[in-house]
Amino acid sequence: MDGVTVINHPLVQHKLTIMRKKETSTAGFRRLLREISTLLCYEVTRDLELTMETIETPMQTIQAPVLEGKKLVFASILRAGNGLLEGMLELVPSARVSHVGVYRDHETLEAVEYYFKAPESLSERLVIVVDPMLATGNSSIAAIDKLKERGAVNLRFLCLLAAPEGIRNFHEVHPDVPIFTASIDSHLNENGYIVPGLGDAGDRMYGTK
Ligand code: URA
Repeated sequence: MDGVTVINHPLVQHKLTIMRKKETSTAGFRRLLREISTLLCYEVTRDLELTMETIETPMQTIQAPVLEGKKLVFASILRAGNGLLEGMLELVPSARVSHVGVYRDHETLEAVEYYFKAPESLSERLVIVVDPMLATGNSSIAAIDKLKERGAVNLRFLCLLAAPEGIRNFHEVHPDVPIFTASIDSHLNENGYIVPGLGDAGDRMYGTK
């Protein structure tokens, strides 16, 4: 699928299988989500630009690579996106964090924002938007609408599972935003859940129902 990268790393696939199992506990699910998010973060940042910097090792002065540009932004779509944040921040501790609480009004299809916080200079940063489940695409489309309104131009979307319907909707509205996912599942059911999926990601990570 154009604009979609499926992260096939064996460790990602193995951990995802355990997360899908209905008998996996809340504690287990949370631990796996943290572990898998570091691996997903590694893949979504694989092609970041580097620039050379002059440094001194104990032996000599050399030119060595460092990340180019301003600090990354990880934008978490509340609430399940927070489950991916922790592991990503472990890998990129200097990243800035944005929290976006949005939903799409079913009648007007307008994005309704109930919370938004983001660092300065969004337009100059790579913004990696995170949400474990790309289901209908409504909340991720709305979140990216809001980030673009605040100036973001260079965005990527990272999730654990995506439904084909969600990918289609998402790329109709935001064709410029590449999607990274561990799996493209079969379909959405009549309640908007991903099948086979893993259930409600927020409930599984926080033990709510
Ligand atoms: N959100 C979830 O948490 N799970 C789904 O299957 C779809 C949306």
